Amino acid sequence: MAPSDTQPAATAATAATASLTASLTASLTASLTASLTASPAFVVGPVRRETFGSFVEHLGRCVYTGIYEPGHATADEAGWRGDVLDLTRELGVSTVRYPGGNFVSGYRWEDGIGPKNERPVRLDLAWHSTETNHVGLDDFMDWCRKAGVEPMMAVNLGTRGVQDAVDVLEYCNLAGGTALSDLRRKNGSEEPHNVTFWCLGNEMDGPWQIGHKTAQEYGRLASETARAMRMVAGDTLRLVACGSSGPRMATFGEWERAVLTETYDMVDYISAHQYFENSGVLEDHLAAGAVMDQFIGDIVAHIDHVKSVKKTSKDVHISFDEWNVWHMGSPRTPIPSGTDWPEAPALLEDLYTVADAVVVGDLLITLLRHTDRVHSASLAQLVNVIAPIMTAPGGAAWKQTTFHPFALTSAHARGDVLQLAVESPRYVTPEHGEVPALSAVATHDPETGHVTLFAVNRSTAEPLRLDADLSAFAGLGLLEAVTFTNEDPLWHATEQDSTSVLPAPLDGAAYDGGRLTAELPPVSWTMIRLG
Ligand code: AHR
Repeated sequence: MAPSDTQPAATAATAATASLTASLTASLTASLTASLTASPAFVVGPVRRETFGSFVEHLGRCVYTGIYEPGHATADEAGWRGDVLDLTRELGVSTVRYPGGNFVSGYRWEDGIGPKNERPVRLDLAWHSTETNHVGLDDFMDWCRKAGVEPMMAVNLGTRGVQDAVDVLEYCNLAGGTALSDLRRKNGSEEPHNVTFWCLGNEMDGPWQIGHKTAQEYGRLASETARAMRMVAGDTLRLVACGSSGPRMATFGEWERAVLTETYDMVDYISAHQYFENSGVLEDHLAAGAVMDQFIGDIVAHIDHVKSVKKTSKDVHISFDEWNVWHMGSPRTPIPSGTDWPEAPALLEDLYTVADAVVVGDLLITLLRHTDRVHSASLAQLVNVIAPIMTAPGGAAWKQTTFHPFALTSAHARGDVLQLAVESPRYVTPEHGEVPALSAVATHDPETGHVTLFAVNRSTAEPLRLDADLSAFAGLGLLEAVTFTNEDPLWHATEQDSTSVLPAPLDGAAYDGGRLTAELPPVSWTMIRLG
């Protein structure tokens, strides 16, 4: 959570949008043709499976009636919804962050272990809800095994600290012979969970966070927590220090400098969080990828500054562990207040439009383009809460629009991320200035020889003609060209209709003599596979 990266919904926005759209279209500075050149010799870095992470928080209906619903027609003996497990696998998720989010900053992990009927019911202050603790740590590990994903755990550095982090690590990772590892075995998990990926708290820069801290306070605590955790498990751990909750935080930059100054030698990653929303000016919304690009560039500068001051050769990478579209300015369901502390209320259940899906596809393109510095990322979140998967309690599970570009990118981005030379026309936005109309990334799998291009046309009115020089690759042929777009970019899926707008073949894409040509529709996300 952070001040939105697009303008708050302006009251006059609706009336102004039509004329603004017309003038923005007119301000495109060239005819809409973009060109790019790719070569197997120019590589940014590997496609990392960790880029395709997601997030399950004890928030709203993400856990309860999301991944977990005993008695549901598809539920297994442990209460996991089989339809959600299937969709999670189809989405191609690699790591899943848990248990929060804001929730973790008031969480007592030991509440969620042992017999379910003996677990305490607690207030969840972060989301003003009642937490039954029917799902906890060991349960989540079971779900991860079934979903085929890797857990990325967060420790509570809001109301807790070093001892708690060491305890939960001992509970998870020690084979046995100590109080906490034996407690895990007694609770039914004979083998250690071997969790290597740990977040040192969540959004500790945010005044909304329980136990919010200054950069110096947090940096010292994170550094000491990391040191103690490494005393238990050494370099097997991958540790993430909290970066800023977004580029608009007043402390962004100085927070990174101060936190990394304390933690640099102890951690592997610094986190980044960023959400986008459509404030009514679609051109601004579609510029999200360019805004994220800038944020990543700034974080890289802050990391490199500390690296240089410390005169070290060690690198710290970015864990972009919360990113998505989030209609924060117009929530469909308010967070409860007063004496109302509901169990698993419907919260943050955003409905995603085709344009939102194009933005999500573009954000994933942006993360991949920075694979040299962004080593991990999590789409926030997985089910019901700002999610690609939705469920009805006792009913169906279905895909939101954002499911499609994520699943296709995860399925087909393989091998190396290529450094593209791109020439694109630009358009002018009221909020973000000039932005390229084309956003693109390509991957090349040296083993199969496949090249896959992911591209977004950000123009709201004009098709974008793409001319790609791939002559440096031998023997390619067009395998598949699919696009996700719709005449009404504001269409969204519902429980009743989640399939009438789907990725569809892109007519007219051609490959001849090393040249790929295609016409990308306005407001579209496209994948072209060659092999
Ligand atoms: O993803 C929803 C919330 O956004 C998370 O709990 C928090 O970390 C962020 O503010």
